[in-house]
Amino acid sequence: MDRRNFSQSLLAAAGTLSFGARAQPVPAADAYQSAFEASRAAQPWTLAYVGLQEDAAPMPLTLRGRLPRGLQGAFYRNGPARHTLGGKRYHHLFDGDGMVQKYTLSAQGITHQGRFVRTQKFLADSAAGRPVRAAFGTNPPEAEPISGPDDVNVANTSVVQHGGELLALWEGGSATRVDPQTLATGELKTWSPDYAGMPFSAHPRIDADGTLWNFGVSSGRGLLSVYRVKPSGELAQAATIKVPDMSMLHDFAVTERHLVFLLPPLVYDAGRAAAGETFLDSHVWKPQLGLRVLVLEKDRLDAPMWFELPSGFVFHIGNAWEDRGTIRLDYVRSDTARHATFELKQLMQGHYESRETPAVAVVELDLKAGRARQSLLPHWSEFPRIDPRVVGRRYAQVFLAERVNAGDRPGYDSVLRLDVGTGRADRYRYGDNVMVEEHVFVARRSGSGREGDGWLVGTALDLKRREMLFSVFDAQRLADGPIAQGAMARVMPLGLHGIFVPA
Ligand SMILES: [Fe+2]
Repeated sequence: MDRRNFSQSLLAAAGTLSFGARAQPVPAADAYQSAFEASRAAQPWTLAYVGLQEDAAPMPLTLRGRLPRGLQGAFYRNGPARHTLGGKRYHHLFDGDGMVQKYTLSAQGITHQGRFVRTQKFLADSAAGRPVRAAFGTNPPEAEPISGPDDVNVANTSVVQHGGELLALWEGGSATRVDPQTLATGELKTWSPDYAGMPFSAHPRIDADGTLWNFGVSSGRGLLSVYRVKPSGELAQAATIKVPDMSMLHDFAVTERHLVFLLPPLVYDAGRAAAGETFLDSHVWKPQLGLRVLVLEKDRLDAPMWFELPSGFVFHIGNAWEDRGTIRLDYVRSDTARHATFELKQLMQGHYESRETPAVAVVELDLKAGRARQSLLPHWSEFPRIDPRVVGRRYAQVFLAERVNAGDRPGYDSVLRLDVGTGRADRYRYGDNVMVEEHVFVARRSGSGREGDGWLVGTALDLKRREMLFSVFDAQRLADGPIAQGAMARVMPLGLHGIFVPA
C-alpha cells in the first residue's frame, strides 16, 4: 500500500465522518436533551450519564480498610465525559469528549483527578459553544467540513502506557499523548509519516516481550492496518490489507504466532455515509455473513485465514492462545448489534431497555481443518480483562463486570472472575444502587507469578450516596468483598477502559 492510497483512504474515511450536506429539520429544542432531562427524576441511573463541563480538580478519597503494601501507582480510566454542550446533547454514548481520570494510590491513600483531552474537536466545539464537528453517532446540523479523522477524534475510549508514554486512545484516528502526572494533553502520536492520522484502535495488546500490537480500520476504503511497535515505542512494522465487507471492529487478540479479528456482520456502507448518515448509522446488519473470524500470521500478514461463527455482535475479546494447532479464545457475544446501534442511543435520552442477554463465548479455531466451534457461558457481562502476564498465552481467568440483578437500569452491578475452562465463577455483587465500571487486574510483584495472583481494582458509582467508589479486591477472593475501598463525594461519568501503572 503506497502513500497515495493511504491518502485516498484517509479522505474516504474522513468522508464517512463528515456531515452537513444532508438537509434535516432541526428541532427548536434539542430532543435528546429534553428527553434526558424529563427522565432524570424517575430514573436515578441517569446520574451516570449527565456528564461534565469542567475538569475534575484533585480530590482525596476517604479510605475504608488499608491499601495493600505492594499496590502503589496510578489507575487511569478514559471515557466519554462531555455528553452535552450548549444545550445540545449527543445521540450516542460513544460520542462525548474523552476525559482521562487518574486515581493515585500511595502510602498517603488515594487521590483522584480528571482532565478532558484537548483534542482539536474539543477545542473547536468549545470555541463555538456547541458541537460543530461530527461524532460517532451524531451529525450536528451545519457541521464543519473535516479533512481527516483526527478532526473528529474525541480520544475517549482507553489509555495505554507504552514506550515511556501515556496515550489516550480512540479507534477512528491517532493516539493522543497525555502527561501521566498532570493529565495535560500533548501532541498526536505519529508512528510513521505514511501512517500519520491513520486509525489506531483503543485495544492494543502488549506481548510478554513488550511488543505492542494494534490495528486500525479505515471503513471508507475497507482497509485494516496492523501495527507492530517495539517495546521502546518505535514502530517496527505497519501493513495494511483490504478486507471485504468491512465491519465495525473494536478489539482483537494476539497469540504467540497469530492475530485474531472477530468481524461482526455490522458492515460499513459507503452509500449510507454519502447520503449523510452518521458513521454509526452507515453500518448495516448483514447476518447472512455470519461472525467472520480473520486470522493473520504475525510474520506473514498477507495470507489471511477465514473462519465463521454464528452471526452475532462483539465488542471485546478476553484473550486467545494457541494449543497445538488450535486457537482458543473467549469473547463477549450478543446475538445482534442492537445494544450498540439502538440501546446506547436510548440511554442518551434517559431510557433503558434491553431485549438481549449477552454471554461469554468460548471458541476453538482448528487451523488445519479451518473449523470454528463455540460454546456459551451464561454470564451477562462486559469489559473482559486478564492478567497482563498471559496475553496471547495459555490462560484460564477472565475478569468481567457482570449484570446479576440490576433491574430496570443499564449496566453492571457485580465483578466476576470466570474460569473459561471450567466455567467456575467467583463474584462480588456491589448492591442494588451501585453501577460498576470495568475492573482491572494488577499483578502482585512479590507474589507467586502464577496467573491471577494479584488484585482486581476498579471504580463504581453509588447512586444513593452519590459517591464514586474505588475498590481493591484480592483477585482470587472476589466473593469476600473489597479489602480496601475509597469513596469520594463527587459523581464522575461512567466511562470505558482503564489501566493500572505501578509506581
Ligand atoms: Fe472497548
